[in-house]
Amino acid sequence: EAELYTVYKGVYVPACLHPPQSLKYYEEFSFRRDDIIIVTYPKSGTTWMQEIVPLIMSGGDPACVEMLPNWDRVPWLEEHRACVLNLEQRPSPRMFSTHFHHTMMPPSFFETKPKVIYLMRNPKDVFTSSFHYYGMTSFLVNPGPQSEFLHKFLDGKVMFGSWFDHVKSWLNAEDKDRIMYISYEEMIMDLKDSVARIAQFLKKPLDTEVMEKIADRCLFKNMKQNKMSNYSTVPREFMDQTKSEFLRKGIAGDWKNQLTVAEAEYFDAVYKDKMKDVKYKFVWD
Ligand code: PPS
Repeated sequence: EAELYTVYKGVYVPACLHPPQSLKYYEEFSFRRDDIIIVTYPKSGTTWMQEIVPLIMSGGDPACVEMLPNWDRVPWLEEHRACVLNLEQRPSPRMFSTHFHHTMMPPSFFETKPKVIYLMRNPKDVFTSSFHYYGMTSFLVNPGPQSEFLHKFLDGKVMFGSWFDHVKSWLNAEDKDRIMYISYEEMIMDLKDSVARIAQFLKKPLDTEVMEKIADRCLFKNMKQNKMSNYSTVPREFMDQTKSEFLRKGIAGDWKNQLTVAEAEYFDAVYKDKMKDVKYKFVWD
């Protein structure tokens, strides 16, 4: 474990994806006011949003999601690739991703206050998706038996730390008018409406048919066909998609097929305790 993860600002990060020079680059990064940042705890629908936001910003031009892989199209600022992508030269509005907690964001973020789309997902489904993902990647610690991984997840001893701390940090953020909160479950329930809300937040007016086309393209079964978004170009030694696909099931509520009744009850008890002071009304509550 010590080899695969490093501890950065109190949370585990996969060492090979986030070498010290990348984290330093992010620490010193200069945001622009009109940057758009997709913020997620891992496995909450990042890739989905990395498809939707560029399509909205390009007015529905499919080329924008077919020319570049998602990690270059809406790069993670903490990842090793960020410092070689010449992000300083990109025209506004730039689009980025991050898995950082609000408290981990670099100084320029708090000075500049770029736009944030904070996407969250039922933690039991985040757990389920993570369990399969940790099992198929070589740069994450093997999840081990499900019951053990459950404790690690609830204790935040996984990449990017505790789901609870992540969500609470972003819900407590100031400048709420610069942050859009949306959930994976809302997107599953009504993708067209979600696309419309995101477009409105980004102040990008689009015709109804364009929004419908975007939503259709971003349906799980259609997006799965996009080689620039389905991680099929990643070598098998890093991600073994014969074990579990990156775009695995794409549904809400798969935890019911994964957790035992006792595990789900335990999860709920921990959730209730950790979230007791949170006023936000989650779709899954
Ligand atoms: S990562 O590694 O943090 O970037 O992963 P992330 O993209 O956040 O999460 C992966 C899960 O999102 C699902 N996904 C989708 N669901 C519905 N529709 C679309 N279009 C879509 N795209 C990605 C993906 O299948 C993973 O969830 P699970 O439950 O494992 O299927």
